[in-house]
Amino acid sequence: MNILLVGSGGREHALAWKIAQSPLLTRLVAAPGNPGMAALCETRKVGPTDVDGLVALAGEIAADLVVIGPEVSVAAGLADALQGAGVPCFGPTAQAGQLESSKAFTKAFADRYGLPTAAYVICEDPASARAALDRFEPPYVVKADGLAAGKGVVVAATRAEAEAAIDDALGGRFGAAGARVVIEEFLEGEIGSLFALCDGKDSMLFGWAQDHKRAFDGEQGPNTGGMGTYSPAPVFTPELVEQVRTRLVEPAFAGIAADGAPYRGVLFVELMATRHGPKLVEFNVRFGDPECQVLMLRLESDLVPYLLACANGTLAQTPQPVWRDEAAACVVVAAKGYPETPKSGGEIRGLEQDFGPDVVVFHAGTARDEDGALRAAGGRVLNVCAKGADLKAALAGAYGAIDRIDFADGFFRRDIGWRALAR
Ligand code: AMP
Ligand code: GLY
Repeated sequence: MNILLVGSGGREHALAWKIAQSPLLTRLVAAPGNPGMAALCETRKVGPTDVDGLVALAGEIAADLVVIGPEVSVAAGLADALQGAGVPCFGPTAQAGQLESSKAFTKAFADRYGLPTAAYVICEDPASARAALDRFEPPYVVKADGLAAGKGVVVAATRAEAEAAIDDALGGRFGAAGARVVIEEFLEGEIGSLFALCDGKDSMLFGWAQDHKRAFDGEQGPNTGGMGTYSPAPVFTPELVEQVRTRLVEPAFAGIAADGAPYRGVLFVELMATRHGPKLVEFNVRFGDPECQVLMLRLESDLVPYLLACANGTLAQTPQPVWRDEAAACVVVAAKGYPETPKSGGEIRGLEQDFGPDVVVFHAGTARDEDGALRAAGGRVLNVCAKGADLKAALAGAYGAIDRIDFADGFFRRDIGWRALAR
C-alpha cells in the first residue's frame, strides 16, 4: 500500500513510526513531515492546509490511503476534497470537524443529543461576557470559540483574571478563533483523553491516556497543547470507559451522522471524570498530541488495518486492537518561553545516540539548518517517550534519555504521571 501522511508534529512522527512497521506498507510519504520523520520515510514540502497540493500529491504517489494528522487539515476540507477525488481517507469531513473547530457548535451539539457537559454561556462582546460571569462561581472557565492550538482556555481563580481573559480573547489574541467566547462551569475531577474510531457506521474504542495541560510542574502556569502523557492511566477504570462509550462516544457518532456528516476517523474525547460521571470537556477530530505517542508505543497490533477500515467502512470486520501489557510515558521538551513566546533556533544535540530498545524520541517542532544542525522550530520541540514494565519504569526511561540530550533552550515537566504515582 502507498500511504500519504499529513502533518509535521510529534503525533505524526509517532504515526509514521508505527505505519513504517506495517507489513502492508509499500511506500510512505509524509507532507510536510519533520526531520525525525525524514529518517523514516519520504517527505514532501506540501503544507497541511494546501488541499489542492495534497490531493495532487495523493494522485502522484497513487495513494491507497491518506492519513490526516492535524485538525487544521480537517477544517480546511481535505477529507471532502479527497472524497471528491476518490481517494480513501482517514479523517473526517469539515462538517464533522466542527466538533473541534467550534466550541459553540459542540456545546449546541451536546445539548441536542444529550451529552453530559459543563453548563455554559456563549458571548460575542465583553460586556455580556462580563455579565455572564455572575452566573458562575470561581474558578471561572473562559474559552476562545475556535481553534487556538490548545491555548485558548483560561481557568481563572479570580473575577479580575476572568475579565482579563475575556478581553484578551475578544480583543483579537486568537484572531477569528476569538470572535466569540464560551464561559462555562468549572468541572471538578480528573481529566482524561479517550480515543474512538468510526467508519461512518460502526465504532470502536482505540485507547486512552492522561495528558498534562499546564506548562509547569504542580499544574502551574498557562494551558498548553500538552506537556506529557502516559498510558494506561488509572483514572480510566473499566466503569468509566464504559460510561464514556455509552454516554459520549456512541451518542456523538450517532448525532453527527444524524446531522448528515457521518464520521470517518478518530474522535478524541477529552473528559472530566466527575462525581457525577464523565463530562465532556471537548472533542477533537484527530489523535491527541502527545497522547498518540504513548498509544503508538503500546499498540501491539498493526495500525494500518484500523486506519484503512475507518476509510473503507470495514471496522465491524476488524478485530479489537491488542495493547501491550506495559506502560508508556511521553515527556514533552518545549522551547523556553512556550506557550507564549517560544524561543526558536536553539540547537539540539545527542539524538543520534542509542537510547535502548524502550526509548523513542519523536520530533515535533524541529528543523535542520543549512549545515545540517538540528534546531528548535516550534513551541513543543521533542517528545521523549519510553515504555516499561510499569509507569515508574517508563518514566525512568524517558527522563533518563532527556538527561542525555543537549538542548539548553528547552524545558520540560518533571512530574508527568503524578496523579497515578500519588494513588
Ligand atoms: P481544552 O482546551 O478545552 O482542552 O481545555 C484545556 C484544559 O483546561 C483542560 O485540559 C482542562 O484541564 C481545563 N478545563 C477546560 N474546561 C474546563 C472546565 N469546564 N472545568 C475545569 N477545567 C477545565
Ligand atoms: N494533548 C491534547 C491535544 O492534542 O489537544
